[in-house]
Amino acid sequence: MKLKWGVIGCGGIAYRRTIPGMVLDNQSELVAVMDTNLALAEQVQKEFHVPHVFDSEDALLALDEIDAVYIATPVFCHKEQVMKAAAAKKHILLEKPMGLTVAESEEIAAFCKAQGVKLGVGLMMRFGTLHEKARTLVAGGELGEIVSMRAQFTCWYPEMPGVWRQNKTQAGGGALMDMGIHCIDLLRYISGMEVTDVAALMGNQIFKYEVEDAASVVMRMENGALAYVDAAFNIPDDAATCKLEIYGTGGSVVLEGSLAQEDVGEGVLVRSDATKGYDAQQHRTKTNREVLQAATKNLYTAEIAAFAQAVLTDTPVPVTAEDAIRAQRIVESAYRAAETRQTVALA
Ligand SMILES: NC(=O)c1ccc[n+]([C@@H]2O[C@H](COP(=O)([O-])OP(=O)(O)OC[C@H]3O[C@@H](n4cnc5c(N)ncnc54)[C@H](O)[C@@H]3O)[C@@H](O)[C@H]2O)c1
Repeated sequence: MKLKWGVIGCGGIAYRRTIPGMVLDNQSELVAVMDTNLALAEQVQKEFHVPHVFDSEDALLALDEIDAVYIATPVFCHKEQVMKAAAAKKHILLEKPMGLTVAESEEIAAFCKAQGVKLGVGLMMRFGTLHEKARTLVAGGELGEIVSMRAQFTCWYPEMPGVWRQNKTQAGGGALMDMGIHCIDLLRYISGMEVTDVAALMGNQIFKYEVEDAASVVMRMENGALAYVDAAFNIPDDAATCKLEIYGTGGSVVLEGSLAQEDVGEGVLVRSDATKGYDAQQHRTKTNREVLQAATKNLYTAEIAAFAQAVLTDTPVPVTAEDAIRAQRIVESAYRAAETRQTVALA
């Protein structure tokens, strides 16, 4: 049996990544696409041999044969479209961030629950080979006690008139909301720990749109470890490293380039001896060093396949609304921390 999908918003990430990934999943079938830009939707229909095309979500949702929808529209459209899809009893894979605010995301989650439909969120970087490997190493205690973490995700995003992502009321926030949310989610996912406190600085250094072009966040994890998130729209893509680093008393995992739309990047695992005494010379020779490689799987096929499997077998979805809301609450706390110049404690 296959899960029959409709796609709401089939430009942008849907066209570039998720639809090409979806058609590779053998438990999924794409039966309809919809976009307010009908010409674009027709182009997608033609390219991927999709039976139905629409320019209204109501028409797509009226198709009985659709079991699930993937929603990849601008953030300000999410709430209304999720509500309509849930009312039509479709399961929903919703792109990040879920809503413009935590309150909106909570409303979305509660409505889906009340309608008895599954809701998953597109934080697909969890499926990255190197991220899964880092999580396994941490869970297995191989890095000892985690003491410090860092994640950086950036892109070059110059001013473009009329673009929703540069408009506060349409995007909800800037680099942190759009890119930093992946970093926060990955640090929670890999460490298996919650965040207790958030401090942040952010602003617009290069680009003067309404939302921040860079944000740096410091978080205290539940075991006391400090974690750093850097999100930026102002670092040229070829200059970026998009690193993720986890340091523990038993060693470290440092990944470079793994925060991406592809399963790429390289990692180094170093195993250390925490029982050693103080070394006044501070030798940093890495004697126990292992190179970690990505496996180049399709992250979007993995995301779609895992969601389809959850619906078809009536099991929990891989990336839950609760997880996405926790990440968004940290984003929102960081905005408050930056605005008030105060550290924000998470309940
Ligand atoms: N997980 C990822 O890898 C990833 C990457 C990029 C974007 N995203 C998320 O995906 C969502 C879309 O981002 P994007 O970069 O694709 O945006 P985009 O602007 O490139 O594309 C959005 C598409 O939605 C269409 N659209 C606009 N209003 C619509 C409506 N009311 N109904 C239907 N279609 C409508 C537009 O015509 C366009 O084709 C956002 O939530 C974003 O954060 C996720």
